[in-house]
Amino acid sequence: MMRRDCTITESREISGGIYLMSFEAGDIAREAAPGSFVHIKCGEGCLLRRPISIADAKGDGMTIVFEARGAGTRELARRRPGATADVLGPLGRGFGSVGGGTIAVGGGMGVPPLLFAARRAAPGSVTALLGFRDAGRVILEREFRERCRDVHIMTEDGSEGGRGTVEAPLREYMERGGISLIISCGPRPMLAAVARIAAQYGTPCRVSLEERMACGVGACLGCACETTDGDGRREMRRVCRDGPVFDSREVTW
Ligand SMILES: Cc1cc2nc3c(=O)[nH]c(=O)nc-3n(C[C@H](O)[C@H](O)[C@H](O)COP(=O)(O)OP(=O)(O)OC[C@H]3O[C@@H](n4cnc5c(N)ncnc54)[C@H](O)[C@@H]3O)c2cc1C
Ligand code: FES
Repeated sequence: MMRRDCTITESREISGGIYLMSFEAGDIAREAAPGSFVHIKCGEGCLLRRPISIADAKGDGMTIVFEARGAGTRELARRRPGATADVLGPLGRGFGSVGGGTIAVGGGMGVPPLLFAARRAAPGSVTALLGFRDAGRVILEREFRERCRDVHIMTEDGSEGGRGTVEAPLREYMERGGISLIISCGPRPMLAAVARIAAQYGTPCRVSLEERMACGVGACLGCACETTDGDGRREMRRVCRDGPVFDSREVTW
């Protein structure tokens, strides 16, 4: 883990209020792994850094995709290429190795780290199943299509792809067979549903959890969540350091 003032090399709005930002990030980029994240200082008014998943890393270059929601991410979105950002990373434990037979199930702003996982896997080996609120919120579809065998889009209102959540198509993929690993990132109710389906089919499943974070490096316990070990014992784990990616069977849903 390193702290570095990273120069912004690209910044553009890819959809309403959603930004793609690339950095010259040196060792942070070189050590990044799918599922790991960076902790970014967002302006003088924001005491706490903001955690954002790494969406891609190649050589010294690193890309994030984020929604401008509150004071911190809105300030970050205003920075232009040539400016710098104070970045800590890469942090956390990622998805691990991802190969053929993997389905990446993403929801909304949970899809960027799955794109990184698909980009690090052999071309065409990962299937992507991505859910969004409506057509206007669909992001990174072209990038997933460049890397994945099959890309299935769902929107809640049916304005693009299938109508509804990712649950029904995920069951169809599981019924068809050939899925040996599920990786998932998105809203917690979606992750819980994905974990249930994985358990029904006895398929390994790794989920990326989100908690509000303070230190980001395991020191403050601000991001603790309850997990269960193999013997059913409950314990508190830190999402920033023990995760953010966990085996879905370990999470207390
Ligand atoms: C490991 C990890 C990876 C993440 N990756 C991404 C990503 O790739 N792209 C992206 O857009 N967002 C991501 N997030 C969420 C992002 O960190 C928050 O949206 C951001 O911190 C909000 O900061 P803010 O200053 O804009 O908003 P604030 O003013 O702090 O809050 C605005 C709203 O965002 C909510 N919020 C704040 N922090 C979080 C959080 N950690 N998780 C969920 N909601 C939060 C608040 O409850 C509030 O409703 C990630 C979070 C974690 C923990
Ligand atoms: S944010 Fe401090 S321990 Fe995770």
